[in-house]
Amino acid sequence: MLIHSAAQLLTIAGSPQRGLHLGELGIIENGAVLINGETIVKVGESQELLSQYPHESLFDASGLVVMPGLVDPHTHLPWVGDRSDEFEMRLIGKSYMEIMSAGGGINSTVGATINSSFDQLLDETRQRARTLFNHGTTTAEAKTGYGLTLENEIRLLQSIDTINQEGPLELIPTFLGAHIIPPDYQAHPDDYVQSICLDMLPRVVDWWRTKNKNAALPFVDVFCDQGAFSIQQTQTIFKAACGLGFPIKIHADEFANLGGAQLAVAFHATSADHLVKTSPEDIQALAKSTTVAVSLPCTPFGLGHSEYTPARDLLASDALFALASDLNPGTAWCGNMQFVIALACRYMHLTPAQAVASSTINAAAAINLADRIGSIEPGKQADLIILSVNDYRQLAYRFGINLVKNVIKKGRVYSV
Ligand code: NIG
Ligand code: FE
Repeated sequence: MLIHSAAQLLTIAGSPQRGLHLGELGIIENGAVLINGETIVKVGESQELLSQYPHESLFDASGLVVMPGLVDPHTHLPWVGDRSDEFEMRLIGKSYMEIMSAGGGINSTVGATINSSFDQLLDETRQRARTLFNHGTTTAEAKTGYGLTLENEIRLLQSIDTINQEGPLELIPTFLGAHIIPPDYQAHPDDYVQSICLDMLPRVVDWWRTKNKNAALPFVDVFCDQGAFSIQQTQTIFKAACGLGFPIKIHADEFANLGGAQLAVAFHATSADHLVKTSPEDIQALAKSTTVAVSLPCTPFGLGHSEYTPARDLLASDALFALASDLNPGTAWCGNMQFVIALACRYMHLTPAQAVASSTINAAAAINLADRIGSIEPGKQADLIILSVNDYRQLAYRFGINLVKNVIKKGRVYSV
């Protein structure tokens, strides 16, 4: 298939974009891209490709933007139920942490999730996966974390695996058994940490190997924050996870700065996510590292907070920066990366080009997939989106609507 005559073809070709290089979109006007099966074969100007390949089936993208599929490197996709009651409680003065300490918050979603049937879990998760896809996300990371026992966490991994097999949204799993300390362990939280290290992680390896023999292991993530896991507990889990060969991620500095960003860098984590209460020293540590700083602007927005990730300081310091949705039922029920881009431009002062690169090639780097997805280049997987507008900046400028017209996943065209 030859997609041709795009008003703008954003290739975003090359490596993940560090620091102030962020935003190099490699735009070809009147651009074309040739796809064979699941793979991109050639990229260039329309006249040239149309004359070189006269017998291909054609997709006319006149007046439209063609760009890489959006990548969402941080979601809590599988869960059951909702917390609209807690949202209302927050509006009349209770904080997220107060609700969580009183047994609500993540705990209430754990309850709803573990008490549901597997079919219900799949139904609710599948609907969200479809929404992400229809809004242009072609690959998303998906975390467990609403199970908190070996059996229930594996069930969540199983739901992610099932939805991934069904497609078309591709899912990259993360084990987040360390989401919160379960109520039964409140008096002796280190026992839960030990059970993650000695029981859950080795069993996750066994489960994964029986299903996906040679594929890279899922990520292991820890919510390192006030009311969740301490820096020592996070370190203990990271040691065990790295010892078993897991790639790692962290939730750091969402509510309080415990030093999670620097710990992530010390363990060569793939990404450090949230980064709101992040200090100048943390920024320096991230800047010199390969750990991708992932900002989740829907979260402060969803909580009605005014503080966001210091994105411009991270970029000025030469860090690798990416965006994600944080889709979850507590702080941010939004899996629309177009809205993430709109927020990032307004509240973190990214340019539209920076926000787009942060949601494609750099987001791919945040899940170790920048060699396969995130740009339109020969040899890469044919994951593209076609916008119903002729200028990519509309993605940041407009908000609250869907500008995606078609999604192309592994070479297959879907209409939205
Ligand atoms: O990233 N911080 C931890 N996890 C989620 C919230 C999950 C929930 O409230 O259910 C987050 O914000
Ligand atoms: Fe999160």
